[in-house]
Amino acid sequence: MNKYNLFIALLLACGTAQAQLGQRIIVETDHTSLIMSVGKNGRVYQNYLGARLLNSADNMTLPQGREVYVGGGMEDSFQPAIRVTHADGDPSIELLFAKQSIERPTAGCTETIVTLKDPKHPITVKLHYQAFIKEDVIKSWTEIINGEKGEIVLNDYASSMLNFDAREYWLTQYHGDWAAEMKMQESKLTSGIKQIDSKLGTRAAMYQSPLFLLSLGKLSDETTGEVIVGTLAWTGNFRFHFETDQNNGLRVISGINPYASAYRLAAGKIFTTPAFIFTYSANGRGQASRNLHAWARDHDVMDGHKPRLVLLNNWETTFFNFDEQKLSGLFDDAVNLGVDLFLLDDGWFGNKYPRSNDKAGLGDWQPTKTKLPNGIGNLIKQAEAKGTKFGIWIEPEMVNPKSELYEKHPDWILRLPNRKEDEQRNQMVLDLANPKVADFVYQTMDDLITKNPGLAFIKWDCNRIMTNTWSPYLKDKQSNLYADYVLNLYQVFKRLRAKHPHLPIMLCSGGGARIDYEALKYFTEFWASDDTDPLERVYIQWGYSNFYPANVIASHVTSWGKQSLKFRTDVAMMGKLGYDIDVKKMTAEELTFSKQAIKNYKRLSDVIWYGDLYRLISPYQENRAVLMYVDSARSKGVLFNYNLNIRERETVNRVKLQGLDAAKRYKVEEINMMTGAKPILPDNGRVYTGDFLMKVGLDLNSWHLKALTSSIIEITAQ
Ligand code: GLA
Repeated sequence: MNKYNLFIALLLACGTAQAQLGQRIIVETDHTSLIMSVGKNGRVYQNYLGARLLNSADNMTLPQGREVYVGGGMEDSFQPAIRVTHADGDPSIELLFAKQSIERPTAGCTETIVTLKDPKHPITVKLHYQAFIKEDVIKSWTEIINGEKGEIVLNDYASSMLNFDAREYWLTQYHGDWAAEMKMQESKLTSGIKQIDSKLGTRAAMYQSPLFLLSLGKLSDETTGEVIVGTLAWTGNFRFHFETDQNNGLRVISGINPYASAYRLAAGKIFTTPAFIFTYSANGRGQASRNLHAWARDHDVMDGHKPRLVLLNNWETTFFNFDEQKLSGLFDDAVNLGVDLFLLDDGWFGNKYPRSNDKAGLGDWQPTKTKLPNGIGNLIKQAEAKGTKFGIWIEPEMVNPKSELYEKHPDWILRLPNRKEDEQRNQMVLDLANPKVADFVYQTMDDLITKNPGLAFIKWDCNRIMTNTWSPYLKDKQSNLYADYVLNLYQVFKRLRAKHPHLPIMLCSGGGARIDYEALKYFTEFWASDDTDPLERVYIQWGYSNFYPANVIASHVTSWGKQSLKFRTDVAMMGKLGYDIDVKKMTAEELTFSKQAIKNYKRLSDVIWYGDLYRLISPYQENRAVLMYVDSARSKGVLFNYNLNIRERETVNRVKLQGLDAAKRYKVEEINMMTGAKPILPDNGRVYTGDFLMKVGLDLNSWHLKALTSSIIEITAQ
């Protein structure tokens, strides 16, 4: 046992260590150290965050660094992590070390809890740091405990504050809009403040995603450079605050966006912030992604190691225009294609106000009798009889003014009492801050599932942001609304999962406007974007791949874009494959290809879902994108090669593979080809050493440099 392990063992044995000035607080994973200590003034400082220090004796000689969780209203001149107005009106808070404890919440994870107290007021703040040892991921959050006799106001209440000292800081952020998610932007941070935030509520991630990469010293690439990749596990308004001070020190504060959200915390209550999840890599962003993917599958995403269903959705084929007969034909298509499940999208509900377009029906979750006289149960039976499973779309937090729900419960809706309603997509948001409304949402979901045994999949949608936001229920506590909405939504998810633990559910928000690691604890995949043009999708999925594993990134083959079906399919196969296409319109050749592609996908899905991802050529750097997955035994790999708007005489280099075993020999073979197509590799099926493939690489475009073409290469150890 080395000294560090001995130290941990001692702490675990006694549970808690009492305050000692100079005492070290050590949060470590296999390759990362976060070292803090108690200063002479009793406050806690961050001495170090970076590659793991090999000698524990060095922990004692680290410079003091900056405070870990700065209290507002004291002498610090920059943005605080926490700012409180106490019951007596005092606007200041000082946080002094009280104790640290270490627990082991799950195998492979230690949790360090640093307890801080204000000497003047009975407020306790607990900083939690869960270190996932082999995945190199740290999850940190804060508990704020109001021990005062009256209500306090949390004006700022960050999940995490981290400090950095580097020559340069480069921020990589992802922004977008509906059907334009995850556009990458990179910029050098200058002195002063940069914030990435959302004030949109329900579709919080529509313009900015709650995640970032921070390169330290120089802009990192896939294999080199120091990088922190971070994300907030919160399904609502978020804010990342980057502040570079006069000494070029950088403070990164992550948490709920305090905008219009000064949280009123009653006496005796605890506010638990969402978790900020981050990983550090000394070897570029590829390693950071692999860390997050492994952590997500092992510790976060619902059923992260369980297979996903390949599905056929009807949205882009029928929109609202279907009936039982049409659906029956679509079940046949699903069976013919060879997918696992048929997913019925929007348009199946509402009777007084049937959902025949997006103007009516949301809130009335009963099947439309004129369209589906025999109900959902009958559809499930029919689908099963034909040999496929059945899933359904729902948007349970929303209401159309043209609905019975709206007529019955006008007080269940978020809207300003003194102004005109602001409808978006003709709909309003329900007031989930009201427990009765949250209960309605739960009941709606539970009824749908329990009354329709056999229902095998749900797509949970959320198609508008919050505006003119005001809760009839919260009365004079409006500033708790944004947070309480999300907290109650989590209660709904929890109750649902307690009763229906493994039902696959897709998280959707008019595309990818609501994706984060807290929601993904309850969901098995997310809808990445309503834009399914495969050229756009290469960039969108590339962006998500920095943060999320392939098994949660729902990627469908549709009719968007003018590219070949092969290109569309190859792009969807790098994620969680699905279809939203009119199968009847496929040519015989396309159908044969698609059936074979689904078989290939199923054969290789373990590598794609659970393997290590290596992004080889970025679409942001060349007119092509190349990436590969390799299984943990390094015996099987799948490579995806996409030519984007490439010119036919453009110079392209051989592609050096990564992640293979240099000593192994691999057969390299193109798959997923249209009947009769000529393979892209001059020696298709040839065997190479891993060493050759990683040092010399493959010529993936020897004869076929055409825009919007693609190839998939299977790599098999011999
Ligand atoms: C959103 C989703 C789509 C589809 C429609 C239905 O836009 O992202 O996939 O489900 O709603 O109205």
